[in-house]
Amino acid sequence: MDRYCVFGNPVAHSKSPRIHATFARLAGQSLRYEARLADKDHFSDAVRQFFGEGGRGCNVTVPFKEEAWQLAESKSVRAEKAGAVNTLLLDGAGRLHGDNTDGVGLVRDLTSNAGINLAGKRILVLGAGGAVRGVLGPLLAERPAELVVANRTVAKAAQLAALFSDEGPVSAAAFDALAGRSFDLVINGTSASLQGELPPLPTSIFSANALAYDMMYGAEPTVFLRWAQQQGAQVRDGLGMLVEQAAEAFRLWRGVQPPTQPVLEELRAELLRA
Ligand code: ATR
Repeated sequence: MDRYCVFGNPVAHSKSPRIHATFARLAGQSLRYEARLADKDHFSDAVRQFFGEGGRGCNVTVPFKEEAWQLAESKSVRAEKAGAVNTLLLDGAGRLHGDNTDGVGLVRDLTSNAGINLAGKRILVLGAGGAVRGVLGPLLAERPAELVVANRTVAKAAQLAALFSDEGPVSAAAFDALAGRSFDLVINGTSASLQGELPPLPTSIFSANALAYDMMYGAEPTVFLRWAQQQGAQVRDGLGMLVEQAAEAFRLWRGVQPPTQPVLEELRAELLRA
């Protein structure tokens, strides 16, 4: 049976084995997918060993996405620009090929699942770390009217805006420079939610019918989503992004697009029960 896995540290909490097992069942594909804990100093050995044993592909999660980018012998254009790889597979010549499906996952969740047309929209992205770098290219490919990257450390936002300036109307801003501006979509890509913190945002940033999106998810809405709801915005967490990035990896490996809706519903129900 074809074997796949996700490498991370920690990795026991990963939902990827469940997601891919369900995709396989729904798409009539026969495969095995497991979570593998990689030692922080021996990620590349673990990957080589897995492919050496006949593994067909793997996902890569925290903290190894940048190292996977280094390790890949070839990369998709989107992964090259993202500076991070979350999906590895072997190319026709048996070399390690890296891709990044996070940005496409976010865009599909917004467009297919939430039904939002991003063309012509004003988008604000909060944060300028690895998570944000991974999604800027696919967001700009949807042709928004503008995309502003705001970050606590403004220089990092400016670096990202410069890196992606050839892909669309992207600019950088400090949080306090957002006062008086409004956006149709505000995406939280900071890790502030993890600490239960809220980036210091002016209350005016949501236009009428705006959507607030947090790339994190949990049983409870994040601090950011609770705040956004109080401002009258629609809210959505990152569970759909998780399922959609997995679906894109599955497609790359198997050549088959798996159905995502049943998986998303199952995970949501489980989160609410927990
Ligand atoms: P990741 O790979 O998950 O993006 P990262 O590269 O460490 O992680 O980036 C974390 C992001 O969250 C950064 O944009 C960080 O802002 P700084 O660049 O100024 O450090 C942002 N962040 C983390 N905690 C935050 C907080 N409490 N308020 C606002 N931004 C925060």
